[in-house]
Amino acid sequence: MRIVKPPSAMQRIAGQWRRSSVRIGFVPTMGYLHEGHLSLVREARRRVGRSGKVVVSIYVNPTQFGPAEDLSRYPRDLARDCKLCREAGVDVVFVPTDAQMYPGKEAGRYSTYVVEETLSQQMEGASRPVHFRGVTTIVAKLFNIVLPDVAVFGAKDWQQAAIIKRMVANLNFPVKIIVAPTVRESDGVAMSSRNKYLIGDLRPQATVLGRAIKLVQQNVARKTVSAAKLREQVRQLIHKVPAARLDYVEFFDPDTLIPARTVGRGIHIALAVFVGKTRLIDNARL
Ligand code: PAF
Repeated sequence: MRIVKPPSAMQRIAGQWRRSSVRIGFVPTMGYLHEGHLSLVREARRRVGRSGKVVVSIYVNPTQFGPAEDLSRYPRDLARDCKLCREAGVDVVFVPTDAQMYPGKEAGRYSTYVVEETLSQQMEGASRPVHFRGVTTIVAKLFNIVLPDVAVFGAKDWQQAAIIKRMVANLNFPVKIIVAPTVRESDGVAMSSRNKYLIGDLRPQATVLGRAIKLVQQNVARKTVSAAKLREQVRQLIHKVPAARLDYVEFFDPDTLIPARTVGRGIHIALAVFVGKTRLIDNARL
């Protein structure tokens, strides 16, 4: 396994692979890897086969964090990440620096961003205004550097995956986007690098997101229910958990993200909840 730092070196390696018709599977991450990421790596390998190459990028992208968010304390452990990647059969770990990804930014000479204007307005986009501009920009840059045939994203970030698919379609990126299922802890909490922040009695309280999804699933199993009524039920459930505060819960079409007024099977639920100071997200098809 190679660890590659400069984008130019990564692009050169990827270009050589492409010219030799070697398929490239790509898993973009912000590091602090867990089983959820490793399941994406396995999916990338499955897609490109043994003769293909799997690249994992590890880069905590500053432009997708708002000023009051957790950029400076976002968990990092590059040595452990590289060990996990090696064990998982990754070919290249790409680890660029801020100066390499956003050259001239401090001096005001970095001024090109990629913006998706529709799907990114609601949910995460409403709560985190700069977030998706940062995500689409870095993912577009990573695609231009890693030149993947296939890129694998986690379903936990459902809205992100929908936006990336839209960006790829709209901007003609020659890459297939795969969305792989969310991996959960035994108590149902979706795996996330941010779960590290859930210390002591905060950790069990994080199960409230999964419980809220289950509550809604039970409610809509045999009938349709108004989104307003379900939203209120979720709000009441979350209100009972001392450290939890609901940011949003939304019901929408899984492909278009268009909000649903009445909710039945096939509609998607997504929610964001603060547990203590940690903001967690989850989603599921009902
Ligand atoms: O999902 C993530 O970890 C990040 O948003 C991504 C796609 C790696 C871009 O920084």
